Amino acid sequence: MDPFLRPAGKGGHGSDDKEETPVLQFLAQNHSAMTHLPTASAVLAAAAAIALLFVSRKELSWFCAVLCITAFVTVLPTLVTGIAAAKGRFNEEGKPFIQGGFIVENIPANAQIRRHQILGISGTVVAAFLAWFGVASLRGRSPNRYLLVLLTVLLAILWAVGGHIGGQELWGPATFPAFG
Ligand code: HEM
Repeated sequence: MDPFLRPAGKGGHGSDDKEETPVLQFLAQNHSAMTHLPTASAVLAAAAAIALLFVSRKELSWFCAVLCITAFVTVLPTLVTGIAAAKGRFNEEGKPFIQGGFIVENIPANAQIRRHQILGISGTVVAAFLAWFGVASLRGRSPNRYLLVLLTVLLAILWAVGGHIGGQELWGPATFPAFG
């Protein structure tokens, strides 16, 4: 197989002897790209929520609300593409992380990606609350500022740690062989 199609440390997308499903393949290939949108929205929302403790500006409150809604909306395709990626990648035992359904199998070989999935989904629940706050804020209500900071910072941490674990699964020492 072309090393550019399977550069990662542990697994690769798809399998050599199976016919690959084009839609799943497309979704799986776009998980990495999609992850930037919710993660960046969460980090910027946390920064805006912290700034709101010190500066009471309508524009800042609007910015924070829009980011909270964006984090939730953009994590939905991220979850879908994540499931596709977990179906298309092999664990150390040579089996897909998800063999059936939508949840990573609970076996030791899947521990990292299972942790990644739990953090991603937990963040999605937090993001749903924040999106609700965001809509309320755009309709003229003012959510508690301290609660907003707590939830946005929690969300940024959940996805930062979860994303880091996902990246460890994708980028291994063999990814850049020229570095030796
Ligand atoms: C159902 C939930 C999810 C599953 C099953 C899942 C699965 C995976 C898998 C298998 C990888 C390995 C690399 C790949 O093939 O793309 C990965 C990477 C990654 N995932 Fe997820 N994921 C999920 C949700 C999320 C969420 C919600 C986020 C963040 C908002 C996220 C962020 C990342 C990041 C940052 C990477 C590394 C990408 C890179 O380094 O380019 N994932 N994920």
